[in-house]
Amino acid sequence: MATAGKERSRVLVIGGTGYIGRYIVAASAREGHPTTVLVRDPAPADPAKAAVLQGFRESGATLVKGDLYDHESLVAAIKSADVVISAVGYAQLADQIRIISAIKEAGNVKRFFPSEYGNDVDRVHAVEPVKSVYATKARIRRAIEAEGIPYTYVSSNFFAGRFLPSLAQAWIKGLPTDKVIILGDGNVKGVFATEEDVGTYTIKAVDDPRTLNKILYLRPPSNILSHNELVSLWEKKVGKTFERVYIPEDEVLNKIQESPAPLNVVLTINHSVWVKGDHTNFDIEPSFGVEATELYPDVKYTTVDEYLNRFL
Ligand SMILES: NC(=O)c1ccc[n+]([C@@H]2O[C@H](COP(=O)([O-])OP(=O)(O)OC[C@H]3O[C@@H](n4cnc5c(N)ncnc54)[C@H](OP(=O)(O)O)[C@@H]3O)[C@@H](O)[C@H]2O)c1
Repeated sequence: MATAGKERSRVLVIGGTGYIGRYIVAASAREGHPTTVLVRDPAPADPAKAAVLQGFRESGATLVKGDLYDHESLVAAIKSADVVISAVGYAQLADQIRIISAIKEAGNVKRFFPSEYGNDVDRVHAVEPVKSVYATKARIRRAIEAEGIPYTYVSSNFFAGRFLPSLAQAWIKGLPTDKVIILGDGNVKGVFATEEDVGTYTIKAVDDPRTLNKILYLRPPSNILSHNELVSLWEKKVGKTFERVYIPEDEVLNKIQESPAPLNVVLTINHSVWVKGDHTNFDIEPSFGVEATELYPDVKYTTVDEYLNRFL
């Protein structure tokens, strides 16, 4: 499809049926990129999965059968794309090395986006069990760089849909009724972005020379909030005040140790953000990064304020 005389790159999404992958596929098709989704099963029995695939087809995306563990299928799919975007989940992060090998063999890829979409894994202070997950993502970065594959790493911070329904409380599922749990002193800033906006900004970066070999950070100015600010915003909307229960770091670390999976994972991510400040405790230097809302001021991103209205 031509836009302003320029061809849009052909995009292949691996992990397109996943939680964040489907927003990336939707954005790619919407922005006019010829879009292919690598799927393990093009005719799934699960009606929910079948509906997702039907949605892809209706958006104009092409489905191609393949598997991360089937090298030939990967190489074939990659050969008919310009840009490869991975959104594989936790269990496949390390095995993205297989995508890197296939990209090398195919030899035609202009840009690779590995599965990231969270904290900048080169600038984190997370404890286990998440420390190892971030280390795996960092190892994939190093492998991409060692192979000389052009890349963009998307650091999108908190997905709104994952963290705002509980007002980003570490171990409470819903919105507060009387108390609100806050890790640390509540004054450290975190960053939120909706899944739709993660998809949109990721796809905006695909053909943008400014994002080549850079980390694309999502730091929408209205969505950089301390936990105290987030609670105050919600209090104002519901006209109620909640008791704020502050959990000091040593207690958070103990709770991480005592908690089973996946709670320990959720707690560790919250510790990294709300106690260590890993979303905002560094500046984005032009040598390694760019910020999405600065690059694409025309995108009207969803603010946390607007998002919270969905819960009223
Ligand atoms: N910032 C945040 O708040 C946040 C929250 C969650 C996740 N994330 C990050 O987002 C990324 C994606 O996570 P997610 O939760 O969206 O993943 P997910 O829902 O678990 O989806 C995983 C995807 O990988 C595909 N897949 C699994 N095995 C495969 C194989 N052998 N070959 C090809 N595809 C395979 C799955 O396909 P099937 O449909 O066939 O199973 C699915 O499409 C991760 O890097 C994660 O750390 C960030």
